[in-house]
Amino acid sequence: MGYKNTVQNYGRIARWLHWGVALLFLLAYCAVYYRHWFTEKQTPENIVALNLHLSAGISIGVIVILRVIWRFVNVQPALEPGPRWQHMLAHAVHYGLYAVMILMPLTGYFGTGRATDFFYLFTIPKFEDTWMFDVLVWDMLGMTFDEFEKPIDFFHKEIMGAWLVWILIAGHAAAAIYHHRVLKDRTLIKMTSG
Ligand code: HEM
Ligand code: HEM
Repeated sequence: MGYKNTVQNYGRIARWLHWGVALLFLLAYCAVYYRHWFTEKQTPENIVALNLHLSAGISIGVIVILRVIWRFVNVQPALEPGPRWQHMLAHAVHYGLYAVMILMPLTGYFGTGRATDFFYLFTIPKFEDTWMFDVLVWDMLGMTFDEFEKPIDFFHKEIMGAWLVWILIAGHAAAAIYHHRVLKDRTLIKMTSG
């Protein structure tokens, strides 16, 4: 198995990036729901869970940049033969997932009122403390952090996090399993053993 994609298979790098991001999504969700359901506000475990959520999310935001670059410099493996509507849907979901990998880290970072202890290795300042906030929000939009944060938070948590991201990922994973178990084609194999 080579590092680059071929027309039949995803290469080693695309696979690592794909499954790495899937694991980070799992970590981001487990951490944020654990925080909500099982911890009291401002206890040490509450803060650790939040930091894990922020760290996993920011990692996704960095990896997606590599993923987009890698996609541009590689061939894309062809989809398995099937009806045109299925191919169009698969492409639409893949683009939707790229949108999720870009918008969730951005809205998460923009709307967070605390610095991130990135996996407890180093600290990333909160958006409000950066020059970007001063230039983009304060100067250009004329908004305070509280005014700016409310709609961003609503989008991150209620619209995307609670609904759209789940629907897209669950639909995408279910389609992969359906191809593997029912249609018995190479869709999942392309992204695993090759
Ligand atoms: C890319 C993946 C991400 C996903 C899928 C995601 C998902 C979510 C979800 C579902 C919630 C709401 C949880 C609830 O209803 O209680 C949430 C809350 C939150 N997210 Fe994210 N998020 C991501 C990235 C980020 C990033 C990069 C940051 C900041 C650097 C961030 C900051 C926050 C904060 C501060 C909350 C509120 C926490 C709370 O109220 O307990 N998120 N996120
Ligand atoms: C258990 C979960 C998952 C399974 C079983 C799965 C499976 C697959 C498979 C089999 C493919 C190849 C499809 C083809 O080319 O015919 C694929 C591609 C893809 N997957 Fe997933 N996936 C999962 C989670 C995720 C997550 C969490 C994301 C991102 C949020 C994601 C984003 C993508 C994207 C964007 C592609 C298109 C190829 C690329 O540009 O890398 N997947 N996935």
